[in-house]
Amino acid sequence: MMQTKQLYFQNKINDPAIKEAASYIQSGEVVAFPTETVYGLGADATNNAAIKKIFQAKGRPADNPLIVHVAERKQMVALVEEYPTYVDELMKVFSPGPITYVLKSNGTVANLVTAGLETVGIRMPSHPAARALLMAANRPVAAPSANLSGKPSPTNATHVKEDMDGKIAAILDGGAANVGVESTVIDCTGEYPVILRHGGVTAAQINEVIQVETKQIKASNKPKSPGVKYKHYMPDVPLILVNDVTKLQEIIQTEQAKNKRVGALVSDQTAEKIKADKIYRYGKDEQEIARNLYNNLRQMQVKDVDIVYAEKITANTVGYAVLDRLQRAADSII
Ligand code: TXA
Ligand code: MG
Repeated sequence: MMQTKQLYFQNKINDPAIKEAASYIQSGEVVAFPTETVYGLGADATNNAAIKKIFQAKGRPADNPLIVHVAERKQMVALVEEYPTYVDELMKVFSPGPITYVLKSNGTVANLVTAGLETVGIRMPSHPAARALLMAANRPVAAPSANLSGKPSPTNATHVKEDMDGKIAAILDGGAANVGVESTVIDCTGEYPVILRHGGVTAAQINEVIQVETKQIKASNKPKSPGVKYKHYMPDVPLILVNDVTKLQEIIQTEQAKNKRVGALVSDQTAEKIKADKIYRYGKDEQEIARNLYNNLRQMQVKDVDIVYAEKITANTVGYAVLDRLQRAADSII
């Protein structure tokens, strides 16, 4: 066990919290920091020994590569081979922001970061604390989401503390993450970009800049984005995703008749009509649903309920990313 320092981002020039967090990164330690999507678990992307500590703290399988975070375009260019021109077009519109570009690595980042792949995922976060930290550390920072492997991603410093206290050097607290789901991962090694993971930037938004393909992302032994084959975002109790909301009340009652305490994750509209032992609320629109999602999943504790049934949401924007996470968090879909 190590002492995990709590640092508070103050968003000012010469912020002492940023200075301290950056010094940990520079000396090969791991620091959790806020981004606009979720909190990240950061370490120097060029230092294999530092990256190893991330995998240990998370309990992450070694074949799942990490995203590298940069403050500026030129930092990205320094890590990759020549790339298609549409990447710069996309960057002009979406970066800094919740999008990750998978590009051909030039070998600069530590080999543990890419998990042996020839490509590297790079993103430029927009959160002021992330930007300040990247500038102060003055190097690329590899960072997966700051949760234990398999658990819901953290969207505030308390979530990070639950999973990482005693395992990392410091947690930089910069408040709640605004987007709430991870970045969109987009393969930019081919003629057209291909979405590997839905996220904060939607396929429709990308399509306005350049024609994008959405791969059927399925679990297989060698998926293009290795992370998608693992169980993810699992709450502490079983979660069942229900396609037909009109069946929800009957399903809940059937379970209660078996002496189970049943939770329901539902829209505000459904919450008014439904009876359950505990109601978890999605929120009012897709943005709010995304912002609340991981906190909702983390609130599902065995002390309150035995099982949770979740209403399927309709997706038009960031809701696609929410649905993707719900499907992967779910024990089953009925
Ligand atoms: O919003 C985010 O992306 C957050 C914040 C902290 O930046 N990070 C994040 O990292 O979600 P992580 O490690 O939880 O998820 C990274 C995903 C995984 O599914 C991984 O397989 C994929 O990105 N990935 C990373 N590098 C890749 C590469 N070179 N090729 C294909 N997929 C890659
Ligand atoms: Mg993750």
